[in-house]
Amino acid sequence: MPLPPPSDSSTCLVTGASSGIGEAFARELAGRGRGVTLTARRKERLVKLASELTDRYRVRAEVVTCDLSSAAARRRMIKTIADRGLEVEVLVNNAGFGSAGRFQDLDGESEVQMVRTNVEAVVDLCATYVPQMVARRRGAILNVASVAAYQPVPRQTTYAATKAFVLSFSEGLHADLKGTGVTSTALCPGPTRTEFGDAAGIPDELMRIPGLSYSAEEMAAAGVQAMERGRRAVIPGATNVAGAVGGRLMPRALLLPLLDRFYPVGK
Ligand SMILES: NC(=O)c1ccc[n+]([C@@H]2O[C@H](COP(=O)([O-])OP(=O)(O)OC[C@H]3O[C@@H](n4cnc5c(N)ncnc54)[C@H](OP(=O)(O)O)[C@@H]3O)[C@@H](O)[C@H]2O)c1
Repeated sequence: MPLPPPSDSSTCLVTGASSGIGEAFARELAGRGRGVTLTARRKERLVKLASELTDRYRVRAEVVTCDLSSAAARRRMIKTIADRGLEVEVLVNNAGFGSAGRFQDLDGESEVQMVRTNVEAVVDLCATYVPQMVARRRGAILNVASVAAYQPVPRQTTYAATKAFVLSFSEGLHADLKGTGVTSTALCPGPTRTEFGDAAGIPDELMRIPGLSYSAEEMAAAGVQAMERGRRAVIPGATNVAGAVGGRLMPRALLLPLLDRFYPVGK
């Protein structure tokens, strides 16, 4: 059984819980009677959500603000969680952001920040909490990748590469953890109606194409269900599965010119 039963001191650490899929993860987990620790930079949103979850589901909901791109801030967050007597039994590495445009035209420092947030923080939090979970012989990791993980994506070059890392890392970890009582699951969403597009500079209409885009709640529910089953990875939605399979199988010499010409993001 990959997911330990909830207890007073156990918590689900959800990164990027101030909006979108992370907020939906927090609701999904609290709705199952699990205590949550919410982290992101925007404190007011986290405090409001924590109070709503405590009122509605009677769970312990903690807030620890953190800029996950900073190693020092992550160390402070980890210490605060331990000082509050909490054991992280579920880790949801959800925080992340993207950009849109040709790499040479984007802000280089922001691209590096993206790698720190989407990649470095994921490895750092797993490096902290996975050994603790293995020692307790229980726990679950849920890493949010993307369908962008399945192929290089021009004009989202760094973003797609960060998500390829998260998927590969998460799947390798899944195998490393076999027989330990701890699981690792990757969630690979496609276009999802959140604040992601705003943050990345992607026009709203591209993030909300009817029939192709999903809600944050749908993605979070699929992710938690896959984590509960100890699955290696999940791609919710038929159009997302088709995109991922096509992206993985198509020769790069064919795929890259096609994406460059027809993929609308960053044009
Ligand atoms: N929406 C999509 O189409 C889509 C598709 C595939 C994958 N994803 C992935 O899904 C995950 C969640 O994104 P979303 O769609 O829910 O977008 P969102 O609504 O923009 O939420 C992003 C979350 O990440 C947090 N975050 C960003 N930078 C951070 C930092 N430096 N430190 C701490 N927290 C940070 C934000 O919080 P603060 O700003 O308050 O810090 C926010 O809570 C991301 O990993 C994203 O790459 C999204």
